[in-house]
Amino acid sequence: MGLKRRDFLKGAAALGAGAAAGFPNIWIKNADLAFAANGEIKVGVLFSLTGTTAIIETSLNQATLMAIDEINAAGGIHGMKLKAVIEDPASDPATFAQKARKLVVSDKCVSVFGSYTSASRKAVLPVFEHYNNLYWYPTLYEGRECSMNCIYTGAVPNQQQKNYIPWLVKNFGKRFYLIGSNYVYPKEENNVCKILLKQLGGEVVGEEYVPLGHSEFASVIQKFKDTKPNVIFSTVVGDSVVALHRQYKAAGLDPKTMPMASLTTSEEEIAAMGGEFAAGHFTSAPYFMSVDTPENHKFVGDFQKRYGKNKVTNFVSEPAYFQVYLFKQAVEKLSPKDIAPPTIRKAAWGQQYQAPQGLVKIDPKNSHTYLWPKIGEAQASGQFKIIKNSKEWVEPLPYWAYPGEVCTPNGMTQKKA
Ligand code: ACM
Repeated sequence: MGLKRRDFLKGAAALGAGAAAGFPNIWIKNADLAFAANGEIKVGVLFSLTGTTAIIETSLNQATLMAIDEINAAGGIHGMKLKAVIEDPASDPATFAQKARKLVVSDKCVSVFGSYTSASRKAVLPVFEHYNNLYWYPTLYEGRECSMNCIYTGAVPNQQQKNYIPWLVKNFGKRFYLIGSNYVYPKEENNVCKILLKQLGGEVVGEEYVPLGHSEFASVIQKFKDTKPNVIFSTVVGDSVVALHRQYKAAGLDPKTMPMASLTTSEEEIAAMGGEFAAGHFTSAPYFMSVDTPENHKFVGDFQKRYGKNKVTNFVSEPAYFQVYLFKQAVEKLSPKDIAPPTIRKAAWGQQYQAPQGLVKIDPKNSHTYLWPKIGEAQASGQFKIIKNSKEWVEPLPYWAYPGEVCTPNGMTQKKA
Protein backbone atom coordinates (compact mmCIF):
# COMPACT_ATOMS: atom_id res chain seq x y z
CA MET A 1 0.00 0.00 0.00
CA GLY A 2 1.64 3.21 -1.10
CA LEU A 3 1.39 6.30 1.03
CA LYS A 4 1.79 9.42 -1.02
CA ARG A 5 2.68 12.01 1.58
CA ARG A 6 3.16 12.32 5.29
CA ASP A 7 0.24 14.46 6.09
CA PHE A 8 -3.07 14.56 7.80
CA LEU A 9 -4.95 16.59 5.24
CA LYS A 10 -6.85 13.67 3.84
CA GLY A 11 -7.73 12.61 7.37
CA ALA A 12 -8.81 16.16 8.13
CA ALA A 13 -11.03 16.33 5.08
CA ALA A 14 -12.56 13.01 6.04
CA LEU A 15 -13.37 14.12 9.56
CA GLY A 16 -16.72 15.49 8.53
CA ALA A 17 -17.58 11.94 7.58
CA GLY A 18 -17.41 10.95 11.28
CA ALA A 19 -17.25 7.19 11.53
CA ALA A 20 -15.89 6.96 7.99
CA ALA A 21 -12.70 8.58 9.32
CA GLY A 22 -12.55 6.04 12.10
CA PHE A 23 -13.99 8.17 14.89
CA PRO A 24 -16.65 6.58 17.08
CA ASN A 25 -19.86 8.57 16.52
CA ILE A 26 -20.68 8.35 20.21
CA TRP A 27 -18.25 11.21 20.86
CA ILE A 28 -20.06 13.43 18.43
CA LYS A 29 -23.58 12.46 19.50
CA ASN A 30 -22.91 12.91 23.20
CA ALA A 31 -20.87 16.04 22.77
CA ASP A 32 -23.39 18.51 24.17
CA LEU A 33 -24.27 16.22 27.09
CA ALA A 34 -20.84 14.95 28.05
CA PHE A 35 -18.51 17.76 27.24
CA ALA A 36 -20.28 21.06 27.59
CA ALA A 37 -22.87 20.41 30.27
CA ASN A 38 -23.98 22.73 33.08
CA GLY A 39 -22.32 25.75 31.54
CA GLU A 40 -18.82 24.37 31.93
CA ILE A 41 -16.20 22.63 29.82
CA LYS A 42 -14.05 20.16 31.73
CA VAL A 43 -10.35 19.90 30.97
CA GLY A 44 -7.75 17.70 32.64
CA VAL A 45 -4.46 19.04 34.03
CA LEU A 46 -2.01 16.15 34.35
CA PHE A 47 1.43 17.28 35.51
CA SER A 48 3.52 15.78 38.33
CA LEU A 49 3.47 17.79 41.55
CA THR A 50 5.55 15.17 43.34
CA GLY A 51 8.45 12.91 42.36
CA THR A 52 11.63 13.56 40.40
CA THR A 53 10.21 15.72 37.58
CA ALA A 54 7.98 17.84 39.86
CA ILE A 55 10.86 20.35 39.75
CA ILE A 56 9.78 21.27 36.22
CA GLU A 57 6.22 19.88 35.97
CA THR A 58 4.93 22.08 38.80
CA SER A 59 5.59 25.07 36.54
CA LEU A 60 3.56 23.38 33.77
CA ASN A 61 0.62 22.89 36.12
CA GLN A 62 0.90 26.53 37.20
CA ALA A 63 1.13 27.98 33.67
CA THR A 64 -1.83 25.86 32.54
CA LEU A 65 -3.99 26.98 35.47
CA MET A 66 -3.02 30.61 34.93
CA ALA A 67 -4.23 30.46 31.31
CA ILE A 68 -7.45 28.69 32.34
CA ASP A 69 -8.18 31.32 35.01
CA GLU A 70 -7.43 34.15 32.58
CA ILE A 71 -9.82 32.69 30.02
CA ASN A 72 -12.53 32.27 32.65
CA ALA A 73 -11.99 35.80 33.98
CA ALA A 74 -12.52 37.08 30.43
CA GLY A 75 -15.88 35.27 30.18
CA GLY A 76 -14.91 31.70 29.29
CA ILE A 77 -15.68 30.14 25.92
CA HIS A 78 -19.16 30.62 24.47
CA GLY A 79 -20.10 31.89 27.93
CA MET A 80 -19.03 28.59 29.51
CA LYS A 81 -16.28 28.40 32.11
CA LEU A 82 -13.38 25.97 31.82
CA LYS A 83 -13.33 23.61 34.77
CA ALA A 84 -9.87 22.22 35.48
CA VAL A 85 -9.71 18.70 36.90
CA ILE A 86 -6.22 18.48 38.40
CA GLU A 87 -4.37 15.21 39.00
CA ASP A 88 -0.85 14.52 40.29
CA PRO A 89 0.66 11.52 38.47
CA ALA A 90 3.73 11.63 40.74
CA SER A 91 6.43 11.34 38.00
CA ASP A 92 5.35 7.74 37.37
CA PRO A 93 4.24 6.62 33.87
CA ALA A 94 1.83 3.95 35.16
CA THR A 95 0.14 6.52 37.39
CA PHE A 96 -0.05 8.89 34.40
CA ALA A 97 -1.99 6.22 32.47
CA GLN A 98 -4.31 5.53 35.38
CA LYS A 99 -5.05 9.23 35.97
CA ALA A 100 -5.50 9.83 32.24
CA ARG A 101 -8.17 7.12 32.10
CA LYS A 102 -9.96 8.75 35.05
CA LEU A 103 -9.88 12.19 33.40
CA VAL A 104 -11.21 10.85 30.11
CA VAL A 105 -13.69 8.19 31.27
CA SER A 106 -14.97 9.33 34.69
CA ASP A 107 -14.51 13.09 34.48
CA LYS A 108 -15.35 13.27 30.76
CA CYS A 109 -12.76 15.94 30.08
CA VAL A 110 -12.91 17.33 26.56
CA SER A 111 -9.10 17.53 26.41
CA VAL A 112 -6.22 16.98 28.83
CA PHE A 113 -3.11 19.17 29.15
CA GLY A 114 -0.23 17.07 30.39
CA SER A 115 3.20 15.44 30.63
CA TYR A 116 6.81 16.43 30.71
CA THR A 117 8.63 13.15 30.03
CA SER A 118 8.19 11.22 26.81
CA ALA A 119 7.82 8.11 28.95
CA SER A 120 4.67 9.57 30.51
CA ARG A 121 3.34 10.76 27.12
CA LYS A 122 3.85 7.29 25.66
CA ALA A 123 2.10 5.79 28.71
CA VAL A 124 -1.04 7.93 28.31
CA LEU A 125 -1.43 7.98 24.52
CA PRO A 126 -3.10 4.54 24.30
CA VAL A 127 -5.83 5.91 26.58
CA PHE A 128 -6.41 8.94 24.36
CA GLU A 129 -6.30 6.80 21.24
CA HIS A 130 -8.72 4.20 22.64
CA TYR A 131 -11.29 6.80 23.71
CA ASN A 132 -10.53 9.15 20.83
CA ASN A 133 -9.83 11.99 23.24
CA LEU A 134 -7.21 14.74 22.87
CA TYR A 135 -3.90 15.22 24.77
CA TRP A 136 -2.12 18.58 24.61
CA TYR A 137 1.62 18.01 25.17
CA PRO A 138 3.78 21.14 25.78
CA THR A 139 7.21 19.55 26.10
CA LEU A 140 10.16 19.40 23.72
CA TYR A 141 10.58 15.80 22.65
CA GLU A 142 12.29 13.38 20.26
CA GLY A 143 9.76 13.33 17.37
CA ARG A 144 9.10 10.11 15.39
CA GLU A 145 5.49 10.24 16.48
CA CYS A 146 2.30 11.89 15.25
CA SER A 147 -0.66 10.54 17.16
CA MET A 148 -4.00 11.83 15.92
CA ASN A 149 -4.93 12.11 19.60
CA CYS A 150 -2.16 14.50 20.55
CA ILE A 151 -1.42 18.16 19.84
CA TYR A 152 2.33 18.72 20.26
CA THR A 153 3.34 22.29 21.17
CA GLY A 154 6.97 21.72 22.23
CA ALA A 155 10.03 21.53 20.00
CA VAL A 156 11.08 18.50 17.94
CA PRO A 157 14.75 17.87 16.99
CA ASN A 158 14.74 20.00 13.82
CA GLN A 159 13.67 22.91 16.05
CA GLN A 160 16.29 22.24 18.74
CA GLN A 161 19.27 20.30 17.43
CA LYS A 162 19.48 21.16 13.72
CA ASN A 163 21.40 24.41 14.13
CA TYR A 164 22.61 23.77 17.66
CA ILE A 165 24.98 20.87 16.97
CA PRO A 166 26.78 22.61 14.05
CA TRP A 167 27.09 25.74 16.22
CA LEU A 168 28.59 23.72 19.09
CA VAL A 169 31.02 21.94 16.76
CA LYS A 170 32.10 25.24 15.21
CA ASN A 171 32.61 26.98 18.54
CA PHE A 172 33.92 24.18 20.78
CA GLY A 173 34.97 21.17 18.74
CA LYS A 174 33.88 17.79 17.45
CA ARG A 175 34.33 15.49 20.44
CA PHE A 176 31.02 15.00 22.30
CA TYR A 177 30.17 13.11 25.47
CA LEU A 178 26.45 12.20 25.57
CA ILE A 179 24.90 12.05 29.02
CA GLY A 180 21.18 11.46 29.54
CA SER A 181 18.55 10.09 31.87
CA ASN A 182 17.68 6.50 31.14
CA TYR A 183 14.49 6.51 29.07
CA VAL A 184 13.26 6.95 25.52
CA TYR A 185 13.70 10.71 25.11
CA PRO A 186 17.45 11.03 25.81
CA LYS A 187 18.23 7.92 23.75
CA GLU A 188 16.32 9.18 20.73
CA GLU A 189 17.76 12.71 20.99
CA ASN A 190 21.24 11.22 21.22
CA ASN A 191 20.58 9.19 18.08
CA VAL A 192 19.75 12.44 16.29
CA CYS A 193 22.87 14.06 17.74
CA LYS A 194 24.97 11.13 16.44
CA ILE A 195 23.48 11.48 12.94
CA LEU A 196 24.38 15.19 12.92
CA LEU A 197 27.86 14.61 14.35
CA LYS A 198 28.56 12.01 11.68
CA GLN A 199 27.65 14.52 8.97
CA LEU A 200 30.00 17.04 10.59
CA GLY A 201 32.91 14.61 11.03
CA GLY A 202 32.37 14.59 14.80
CA GLU A 203 33.00 11.88 17.34
CA VAL A 204 31.15 10.48 20.37
CA VAL A 205 33.74 9.86 23.08
CA GLY A 206 31.23 8.55 25.63
CA GLU A 207 27.54 7.80 25.98
CA GLU A 208 25.89 7.11 29.28
CA TYR A 209 22.42 6.95 30.83
CA VAL A 210 21.66 7.44 34.51
CA PRO A 211 18.43 6.38 36.27
CA LEU A 212 15.70 9.00 36.71
CA GLY A 213 16.31 10.78 40.00
CA HIS A 214 20.04 9.91 39.94
CA SER A 215 22.07 12.24 42.15
CA GLU A 216 25.59 10.80 42.34
CA PHE A 217 27.65 11.88 39.32
CA ALA A 218 31.20 11.26 40.59
CA SER A 219 31.94 8.34 38.26
CA VAL A 220 30.39 10.15 35.28
CA ILE A 221 32.45 13.25 36.01
CA GLN A 222 35.58 11.14 36.23
CA LYS A 223 34.77 9.90 32.70
CA PHE A 224 34.44 13.53 31.53
CA LYS A 225 37.93 14.14 32.93
CA ASP A 226 39.35 10.99 31.34
CA THR A 227 37.85 11.47 27.86
CA LYS A 228 38.18 15.29 27.72
CA PRO A 229 35.25 15.99 25.37
CA ASN A 230 34.83 19.41 23.75
CA VAL A 231 31.11 19.33 24.58
CA ILE A 232 29.03 17.44 27.14
CA PHE A 233 25.65 17.00 25.47
CA SER A 234 23.09 16.65 28.26
CA THR A 235 19.57 15.28 28.17
CA VAL A 236 19.49 14.64 31.89
CA VAL A 237 16.07 15.62 33.33
CA GLY A 238 14.44 16.45 36.67
CA ASP A 239 16.28 16.75 39.98
CA SER A 240 19.37 15.13 38.42
CA VAL A 241 20.04 18.33 36.44
CA VAL A 242 20.73 20.13 39.72
CA ALA A 243 23.06 17.41 41.04
CA LEU A 244 24.98 17.16 37.75
CA HIS A 245 25.68 20.91 37.54
CA ARG A 246 26.68 21.26 41.18
CA GLN A 247 29.03 18.28 41.06
CA TYR A 248 30.52 19.41 37.72
CA LYS A 249 31.54 22.72 39.30
CA ALA A 250 32.68 21.12 42.55
CA ALA A 251 34.98 18.86 40.46
CA GLY A 252 36.71 21.97 39.07
CA LEU A 253 35.54 21.57 35.46
CA ASP A 254 35.28 24.72 33.37
CA PRO A 255 32.43 25.57 30.94
CA LYS A 256 34.89 27.63 28.86
CA THR A 257 36.73 24.47 27.81
CA MET A 258 34.13 21.73 28.36
CA PRO A 259 30.64 23.27 28.35
CA MET A 260 27.50 21.32 28.98
CA ALA A 261 25.13 21.80 26.06
CA SER A 262 21.63 20.80 27.04
CA LEU A 263 18.17 20.37 25.59
CA THR A 264 16.59 20.12 29.03
CA THR A 265 18.20 22.64 31.42
CA SER A 266 15.87 25.59 31.94
CA GLU A 267 15.54 28.57 34.29
CA GLU A 268 13.58 26.26 36.60
CA GLU A 269 16.41 23.82 37.33
CA ILE A 270 18.87 26.74 37.43
CA ALA A 271 16.75 28.46 40.10
CA ALA A 272 16.98 25.24 42.14
CA MET A 273 20.75 24.78 41.73
CA GLY A 274 21.84 28.46 41.91
CA GLY A 275 22.89 30.49 38.85
CA GLU A 276 26.62 30.17 39.56
CA PHE A 277 26.44 26.42 38.81
CA ALA A 278 24.86 26.95 35.38
CA ALA A 279 26.81 30.01 34.21
CA GLY A 280 28.61 29.42 30.91
CA HIS A 281 26.61 26.33 29.91
CA PHE A 282 24.20 26.29 26.96
CA THR A 283 20.63 25.32 26.15
CA SER A 284 18.76 25.28 22.85
CA ALA A 285 15.03 26.01 23.05
CA PRO A 286 12.37 28.18 21.37
CA TYR A 287 11.76 30.19 24.55
CA PHE A 288 13.77 31.71 27.36
CA MET A 289 12.44 33.91 30.14
CA SER A 290 14.65 36.70 28.80
CA VAL A 291 12.80 36.88 25.43
CA ASP A 292 12.06 40.52 24.73
CA THR A 293 8.48 40.67 23.42
CA PRO A 294 5.48 42.53 24.87
CA GLU A 295 3.68 39.17 25.18
CA ASN A 296 6.55 37.76 27.21
CA HIS A 297 6.78 40.75 29.53
CA LYS A 298 3.07 40.29 30.26
CA PHE A 299 3.44 36.50 30.68
CA VAL A 300 6.37 36.84 33.11
CA GLY A 301 4.73 39.72 35.01
CA ASP A 302 1.42 37.86 35.40
CA PHE A 303 3.18 34.63 36.39
CA GLN A 304 5.21 36.38 39.08
CA LYS A 305 2.19 38.31 40.33
CA ARG A 306 0.29 35.07 40.73
CA TYR A 307 3.03 32.74 42.02
CA GLY A 308 5.66 35.00 43.60
CA LYS A 309 8.10 37.67 42.45
CA ASN A 310 11.05 35.28 42.33
CA LYS A 311 9.32 32.66 40.19
CA VAL A 312 10.79 31.92 36.76
CA THR A 313 9.15 30.97 33.47
CA ASN A 314 10.76 28.43 31.16
CA PHE A 315 10.68 26.72 27.76
CA VAL A 316 7.99 24.27 28.82
CA SER A 317 5.81 26.50 30.98
CA GLU A 318 5.50 28.90 28.03
CA PRO A 319 3.93 26.31 25.66
CA ALA A 320 1.90 24.94 28.59
CA TYR A 321 0.44 28.45 28.78
CA PHE A 322 -0.05 29.22 25.09
CA GLN A 323 -1.52 25.83 24.22
CA VAL A 324 -4.53 26.57 26.45
CA TYR A 325 -5.16 29.65 24.28
CA LEU A 326 -4.86 27.53 21.11
CA PHE A 327 -7.40 25.15 22.66
CA LYS A 328 -9.69 28.13 23.41
CA GLN A 329 -9.47 29.39 19.85
CA ALA A 330 -10.31 25.92 18.53
CA VAL A 331 -13.34 25.53 20.79
CA GLU A 332 -14.53 29.02 19.88
CA LYS A 333 -14.77 27.89 16.28
CA LEU A 334 -17.29 25.18 17.23
CA SER A 335 -20.92 25.59 18.10
CA PRO A 336 -21.46 24.48 21.74
CA LYS A 337 -23.32 21.33 20.72
CA ASP A 338 -20.34 20.20 18.63
CA ILE A 339 -17.67 20.48 21.34
CA ALA A 340 -15.94 17.08 21.41
CA PRO A 341 -12.33 15.90 21.15
CA PRO A 342 -12.37 15.08 17.40
CA THR A 343 -14.02 18.37 16.47
CA ILE A 344 -11.61 20.30 18.70
CA ARG A 345 -8.67 18.56 17.01
CA LYS A 346 -9.90 19.51 13.56
CA ALA A 347 -10.55 23.10 14.66
CA ALA A 348 -7.09 23.29 16.29
CA TRP A 349 -5.24 22.50 13.06
CA GLY A 350 -3.96 25.74 11.57
CA GLN A 351 -4.67 27.84 14.68
CA GLN A 352 -2.16 30.63 15.28
CA TYR A 353 -1.44 32.48 18.51
CA GLN A 354 0.83 35.40 19.40
CA ALA A 355 2.79 33.56 22.13
CA PRO A 356 5.51 35.02 24.38
CA GLN A 357 8.18 33.50 22.04
CA GLY A 358 6.48 34.86 18.86
CA LEU A 359 3.65 33.83 16.55
CA VAL A 360 3.08 30.06 16.72
CA LYS A 361 0.89 27.82 14.57
CA ILE A 362 -0.38 24.23 14.79
CA ASP A 363 0.63 22.47 11.59
CA PRO A 364 -2.41 20.62 10.13
CA LYS A 365 0.00 18.16 8.47
CA ASN A 366 1.20 16.63 11.74
CA SER A 367 -0.37 18.36 14.80
CA HIS A 368 3.00 19.79 15.83
CA THR A 369 3.78 23.51 16.17
CA TYR A 370 5.75 26.15 14.25
CA LEU A 371 8.23 27.60 16.80
CA TRP A 372 11.19 30.04 17.11
CA PRO A 373 14.46 28.13 17.92
CA LYS A 374 17.11 29.89 19.98
CA ILE A 375 20.41 29.17 21.70
CA GLY A 376 20.96 30.60 25.18
CA GLU A 377 24.00 30.86 27.42
CA ALA A 378 23.19 30.55 31.13
CA GLN A 379 24.25 33.49 33.27
CA ALA A 380 25.04 33.65 36.99
CA SER A 381 21.81 35.65 37.36
CA GLY A 382 19.87 32.48 36.50
CA GLN A 383 18.72 33.92 33.18
CA PHE A 384 19.82 32.98 29.65
CA LYS A 385 21.58 35.40 27.35
CA ILE A 386 20.11 34.67 23.92
CA ILE A 387 23.02 34.32 21.52
CA LYS A 388 21.19 32.86 18.48
CA ASN A 389 17.63 33.61 17.51
CA SER A 390 15.88 32.28 14.41
CA LYS A 391 14.71 35.02 12.06
CA GLU A 392 11.50 33.19 11.23
CA TRP A 393 9.33 30.48 12.72
CA VAL A 394 10.51 26.97 11.97
CA GLU A 395 8.21 24.28 10.60
CA PRO A 396 7.90 21.21 12.86
CA LEU A 397 9.30 18.10 11.14
CA PRO A 398 8.88 15.17 13.55
CA TYR A 399 10.51 12.75 11.06
CA TRP A 400 13.28 15.11 9.97
CA ALA A 401 16.15 12.87 11.16
CA TYR A 402 14.51 9.75 9.72
CA PRO A 403 13.72 10.34 6.06
CA GLY A 404 12.79 6.65 5.68
CA GLU A 405 9.79 7.08 7.98
CA VAL A 406 6.52 8.91 7.46
CA CYS A 407 3.43 9.78 9.44
CA THR A 408 0.33 8.17 8.00
CA PRO A 409 -3.02 9.94 7.61
CA ASN A 410 -4.29 8.20 10.74
CA GLY A 411 -1.32 9.37 12.78
CA MET A 412 0.78 6.20 12.82
CA THR A 413 4.47 5.99 11.97
CA GLN A 414 5.23 3.80 8.97
CA LYS A 415 8.26 3.00 6.82
CA LYS A 416 8.19 4.84 3.51
CA ALA A 417 6.86 2.64 0.69
C1 ACM B 1 11.09 14.66 27.40
O1 ACM B 1 11.10 13.54 27.97
N1 ACM B 1 10.41 14.83 26.27
C2 ACM B 1 11.82 15.78 27.97
